Amino acid sequence: MPITLKITPPLEGVLCITLNRSEVMNALNTQLLGELADTLSDADSDDKVRAVVITGNTKAFAAGADINEMAERDLVGMLEDPRQHHWKTITHFRKPIIAAVNGYALGGGCELAMHADIIIAGENALFGQPEINLGIMPGAGGTQRLLRAVGKSLATQMVLTGEPISARRAFEAGLVSEITQPELTLERAKAIALHIASKAPLAVRLARESLHKAMDTDLATGLRFERHAFTLLAGTADREEGIRAFQEKRPATFQGH
Ligand code: CAA
Repeated sequence: MPITLKITPPLEGVLCITLNRSEVMNALNTQLLGELADTLSDADSDDKVRAVVITGNTKAFAAGADINEMAERDLVGMLEDPRQHHWKTITHFRKPIIAAVNGYALGGGCELAMHADIIIAGENALFGQPEINLGIMPGAGGTQRLLRAVGKSLATQMVLTGEPISARRAFEAGLVSEITQPELTLERAKAIALHIASKAPLAVRLARESLHKAMDTDLATGLRFERHAFTLLAGTADREEGIRAFQEKRPATFQGH
């Protein structure tokens, strides 16, 4: 049973994970990252889970890696750090993740939010990569995903100055898709997750994979992947059901095959 997370059992296809180290602004220690990776790994093979919401509390989504834990690691410790394995598991999770972010999303916290497919931010959210203030740099995708999300100039400014940006700025830059009042952030993220969970799971999976390709490949390769994925879906019962439901003017019921 995880102790650094609170987990709500899947409801209508949505699993909700709350980071639960509020006494240290949800600093991501190895135990928390490991529990998160294990939870996602289980959810990946659980048909009852079709989308995941990850959230923190009103003050902090997560204020980054646990600095006290990091202080104890030397070069060899960093090279053998199990955290890399946990990040990899989180990266390879195959279902949509919605991050509901209030308060601080700093360092590894900002990087965790950027592992999500969609970020919903409360008006009080602050996104930043302050590692430079500690004499280090982002190490869980912060230089790569942030640059792709907000562009070169703003990403460079954030990483090299360590200064965070507001929810509004993050919205304008394309890092987050919606801003809400802080008390509504989780509710809104859950509503979006529920909406996605009601769609055909295989179509969601392949559409998501195709979107990810846009981040890490050239246009021609991405278009080829998209066409293959689109064609593959022609073999699914859910495609038949979706089209028939449209023609019969009724809501579709997707089974996931
Ligand atoms: N690691 C460990 N403890 C942390 C922490 C962190 N990242 N962030 C906050 N805390 C702890 C504080 O030490 C404090 O503990 P005590 O009550 O025992 O003193 C408690 O959380 C509350 O924090 P503050 O008193 O500092 O609260 P504040 O409102 O004054 O400031 C803050 C909040 C701006 C988030 C500030 O705590 C802060 O700057 N935190 C560090 C942010 C940071 O540098 N993150 C990057 C870490 S490196 C990294 O993330 C690399 C990576 O993943 C690859």
